[in-house]
Amino acid sequence: MLRVSPGGGLRAAVALAAVLFLADGGDPTPAAGGKPGGSFTFAVISDTHTGGTKTTGQQVYRRILEMVNEEKPDLLVHCGDWIIAPTFDKAGHATADTFLAITSMLDSSIAFYPVLGNHEGDHEDFSYARSFYPVLGDSGWYSFDHGNAHFFVVENNSDAPDSALMGYRHCLPNAGINTPGSRQRRWLESDLKGRRPETEWTFGFGHRSYYGAEEYAGRKNVYVAREGEGAFCPFIEDAGVDVFFNGDQHCYTRTTPIRHGRRWEESDRSTVYLTVGGGGGRINRGGSERFPFPFLDDFPEDAYVTGTKTRHFFLLCTVDGPRFHADVIDTSGARIDSFTIVK
Ligand SMILES: [Fe+2]
Repeated sequence: MLRVSPGGGLRAAVALAAVLFLADGGDPTPAAGGKPGGSFTFAVISDTHTGGTKTTGQQVYRRILEMVNEEKPDLLVHCGDWIIAPTFDKAGHATADTFLAITSMLDSSIAFYPVLGNHEGDHEDFSYARSFYPVLGDSGWYSFDHGNAHFFVVENNSDAPDSALMGYRHCLPNAGINTPGSRQRRWLESDLKGRRPETEWTFGFGHRSYYGAEEYAGRKNVYVAREGEGAFCPFIEDAGVDVFFNGDQHCYTRTTPIRHGRRWEESDRSTVYLTVGGGGGRINRGGSERFPFPFLDDFPEDAYVTGTKTRHFFLLCTVDGPRFHADVIDTSGARIDSFTIVK
């Protein structure tokens, strides 16, 4: 449980609290939580972009945390871009304090799980960001079980081919999740093979988007991962990952179940991709709520359920045995999407 106190010693408090995730012997895999047969809830946010001189993101993040605290989910996953600095350089280090201070508002009963976004990237690597949350280990990827679900987090910034950030493609050599045989891919293959027999649901989290539809960030997508032999998306679809959550694009988009780059009628052996970047970052940067999507030629338009919703929001997900339900709630309290998957 990450619960930090504002003021002096903030980073140390975060680090100490996060160490609680570590099992004996330094295994970076957090211990299982919840009861396999019981229901539980988790919230998801992304792209809070706190810090800097602009306070909009900070106000939105505070508002969302108030709403999350009222709902009291078991877990909160943040899909990355915690801060507003373009890189985790000196200015970025300062904005991190703002992020951590606001995050300390989170109710102490709610476990916080971070994902590395591209704004957490240092000029050399992600080490400064990882120092806040030891659950990220030396790599930025990890997994854990909760109830009847398996959660895994990937670091999918390092091998994004379009990154403008220095050091990006070099910070974790041969670790790209989109590269078959890479250290991170081998870890995930082993991790998913090792799921507990009682696992009914598998949820993946990363920062970069594979099926988000925001115009602004289209060029930043990791399209290479969507199709083809050994590509990341078909790999997780075949492995039975039910939902993949990502940020990066500052909007909400939901796909149909997808398998190998196409709409798939069955939820079995296919994955729903959710883009959830509405945690506080700027949302008026070229998105559109029009449907279908005119922006990118290679988008399978029939694979989208929603248009690109540009609001500030969070997801509240409930898992109850073979039933998964998600409500997408904006900062006014309105539901902007809602869906259920039943196995
Ligand atoms: Fe972002």
